[in-house]
Amino acid sequence: MKFFIDTANLEQIKEAQDLGVLDGVTTNPSLMAKEGISGEENVINHYKAICEIVDGDVSAEVIATDFDGMVKEGEALAALDSKIVVKVPMTKDGVKAIKYFSKKGIKTNCTLVFSAGQALLAAKAGASYVSPFIGRLDDISVDGLGLIEEIREIYDNYGFGTEILAASVRHSAHILGCAKIGADVMTGPLSAILALLKHPLTDSGLAQFLADHAKAAGK
Ligand code: E4P
Repeated sequence: MKFFIDTANLEQIKEAQDLGVLDGVTTNPSLMAKEGISGEENVINHYKAICEIVDGDVSAEVIATDFDGMVKEGEALAALDSKIVVKVPMTKDGVKAIKYFSKKGIKTNCTLVFSAGQALLAAKAGASYVSPFIGRLDDISVDGLGLIEEIREIYDNYGFGTEILAASVRHSAHILGCAKIGADVMTGPLSAILALLKHPLTDSGLAQFLADHAKAAGK
């Protein structure tokens, strides 16, 4: 399973890249705003800076909601760097835009997916990635991981090439759940990735090893 980090924070992207387990980055307008990035030029420069750090796909979301606007914005984003994946919302115009981009060989990430039907449509349109938001479903008491399972079954039934990018991941248990089901990618915060490292028996075991080593050395 590929690991993407879901942030526009350059320090966190660098930290994840340095760990050696990062396969890509996803951003969205809220994450860009959180970093104080606004204005066309700043947004473009920020995407370029992310692409310089990371070795993999970088999702950049269109703001336009109509087909023509999405195409114009998406083509400009894709021209910035070969790592850019155009992130398009799951709407009627969005589906048309995904089809358009797929015919032109521009990679897409269909975002704001909350049902298996939406995921089926995204795959039919030729999306490179589909992003079901599992954390936001859990927030409203709908089983987010259950949706990943449904999509996995549907995509496997027909051999769709669209990759399942489990999004809105909130914690390490989500990551493990996605890995067990066979999501192709997960995108989550750095905290969820780093939480995979943690186990109290690792900490106490290491402390014991170091104490025994020091004792034997007469320290
Ligand atoms: C997906 O690509 C989105 O950026 C993201 O995962 C949304 O997550 P949130 O529900 O934590 O905002």
